[in-house]
Amino acid sequence: MQQVSALRKDPGVVFPIPANVHAETVVSVRHYTDRLFSFRITRPQSFRFRSGEFVMIGLPNAEKPVFRAYSIASPSWDEEIEFFSIKVPDGPLTSELQKIVPGDTVLMRQKSTGTLVNDALTPGKRLFMISTGTGIAPFASLVRAPETFEKFEQIVITHTCRDHAELAYGVELAEGLAADPLIGEMTEGRVTLYSTTTREITPRMGRITRLIESGRFYEDLAIAPLDPETDRIMICGSMHMLNDVKELVEKLGFEEGSNSKPSSFVVERAFVG
Ligand code: A2P
Repeated sequence: MQQVSALRKDPGVVFPIPANVHAETVVSVRHYTDRLFSFRITRPQSFRFRSGEFVMIGLPNAEKPVFRAYSIASPSWDEEIEFFSIKVPDGPLTSELQKIVPGDTVLMRQKSTGTLVNDALTPGKRLFMISTGTGIAPFASLVRAPETFEKFEQIVITHTCRDHAELAYGVELAEGLAADPLIGEMTEGRVTLYSTTTREITPRMGRITRLIESGRFYEDLAIAPLDPETDRIMICGSMHMLNDVKELVEKLGFEEGSNSKPSSFVVERAFVG
């Protein structure tokens, strides 16, 4: 049986790798704030996923390691896999995961799944991706997927965080699109990022629910209001936000879709962030 040490710094401790799990190497780690970090791991050759899906990841630090659902933030054509994570001081996984450094091992289950996929939405003109915190991760993958641009004309990503520094991941993502050799041209003029803070004072503030309901969101972007005839919506982030946005868009006439029954909006409930 394949065995690896939990963390490179601790080579004495060795646990077996569970069945149906890939043991991958951390390539890079980036800390954004004391609550957020991203990391990249090697990609197993056999691993395929649809943009927007999540996979279970863990650390080889116990006989039965803790696994948590993580949306894949990298595009499906990337040679590595990227994740964007919160750091919970006493979290069963993230308290240890936040300490990883290049060369460490991360476990990843072999099968990805999820509802934030193009297949779960019927065709439309505009795609709205509504996120809070690390909930932007699946959208980072989807906004670099050629099929998203084949299916939709315009993409609006909303990202709401407590503080300005927490918005950096999304800002860099949006800024990097144009320079991307594979999808840069395809995305030109078609992606809008709408970032807001709720605690730190910045020029654009407020919860997305309030901004949509007040009409401020439409005014700020100079766009027509959400319309189930032409628009599709994906929602990912904190549980309260999911529930509130779901209620809001259902009132506007949107209907929840799934892989087996595509419709006008989808929510990722497996995600914790
Ligand atoms: P707020 O600061 O008003 O709670 P967290 O970091 O706690 O996961 O939150 C991420 C962002 O999601 C915060 O800006 C938070 O705003 C916002 N948020 C939390 N609950 C809701 C909700 N029910 N509807 C809309 N936004 C929410």
